[in-house]
Amino acid sequence: MFKKFYPWRRVSSSYDIDYENLFADGYRGLIYDIDNTLVMHGADANDRAADLFKKLVKLGFGICFISNNKEERVKRFYDGLRDRGTDVSNIHYIYKADKPKRKPYLSAMKLMGTDKNSTIFIGDQLFTDIYGANRSGIKSILVNPINPKEEIQIVFKRKLEKIVLRSYSKMTKELIAKRALVLIGFMGSGKTSVGSVLAKKLGMDCVDTDKYIEAGTGKKISDIFAESGEEYFRKLETASIDNLADDSAGRVICCGGGTPLLEKNVKILKRMGKVIWLDVSPETVLERLKDDTTRPLLQREDKETAVKELMESRYEKYRAAADIIIKVDGKTPEKIADEIINCF
Ligand code: S3P
Repeated sequence: MFKKFYPWRRVSSSYDIDYENLFADGYRGLIYDIDNTLVMHGADANDRAADLFKKLVKLGFGICFISNNKEERVKRFYDGLRDRGTDVSNIHYIYKADKPKRKPYLSAMKLMGTDKNSTIFIGDQLFTDIYGANRSGIKSILVNPINPKEEIQIVFKRKLEKIVLRSYSKMTKELIAKRALVLIGFMGSGKTSVGSVLAKKLGMDCVDTDKYIEAGTGKKISDIFAESGEEYFRKLETASIDNLADDSAGRVICCGGGTPLLEKNVKILKRMGKVIWLDVSPETVLERLKDDTTRPLLQREDKETAVKELMESRYEKYRAAADIIIKVDGKTPEKIADEIINCF
């Protein structure tokens, strides 16, 4: 019943969207609402907004703002970006747009030279922004309003939005739980802590493959490495995901860092469900694991070189295995879990 108001994705802020990935997926045009999506209602462009648009222009995106507000307000925002050094030659705007009508969305694509398949809309309101994008056949990202304290006429709308969003998130959770969520990533990327937050949020079980192996063998991972070597451990790893695969729907599976290195393992993981790569920097890993003694592959004199070399050699394998990539540096498990859920 509410489907026409559902966004394609939800992300907490316009500033947290993974634009590099959107570009890599072939999107070339971004249409934005301004008020409460990019700055507070009526506010001028600030440095944060200018930095974002400088980055997007550099990436190669065309941009168009569509606002139901007056020309003065929209032009003021646009001028503010230009005055802060943003190249506005492929940035456009449409004022008094009359969202949710289709016309401004279609005009925006014409201005940017994009089409429905290469354009994304970003806005904070369901019944104007997102509904209009859906009517125009454009994928949309709903963001949280920048200022939670809003004018009185919008407060009632937000109550209605809440009802729609509740049903949207129920649908999303049901959809996710039909298969498994498989977390991959380097040691110290936070698979286990993100996995348990994620499972809690979605009402799913969380299984950690290392713990599964330890429970099955009655031995610590480091002892298995020491007594029988890495090759033997890898066999146990493959056997464990193979065992889990038949009963993985509705579970979050947190894999050991080396699991996606073998092609046969990746095939099993993909059979289970969506594979999510927690992409972490070597600096974060080193900070988190500086005192760790449980990872045999990192027990070297020069830990920094060990992490950097291993990570570099694995980078392409992780990327190739992943359906979803989440950059995790500086983010809490809570935030990462929300980002994952918002990808569905
Ligand atoms: C390994 C990662 C470890 C564990 C083993 C090998 C790896 O799991 O499976 O020490 O090759 O990256 P975590 O990623 O959970 O630390």
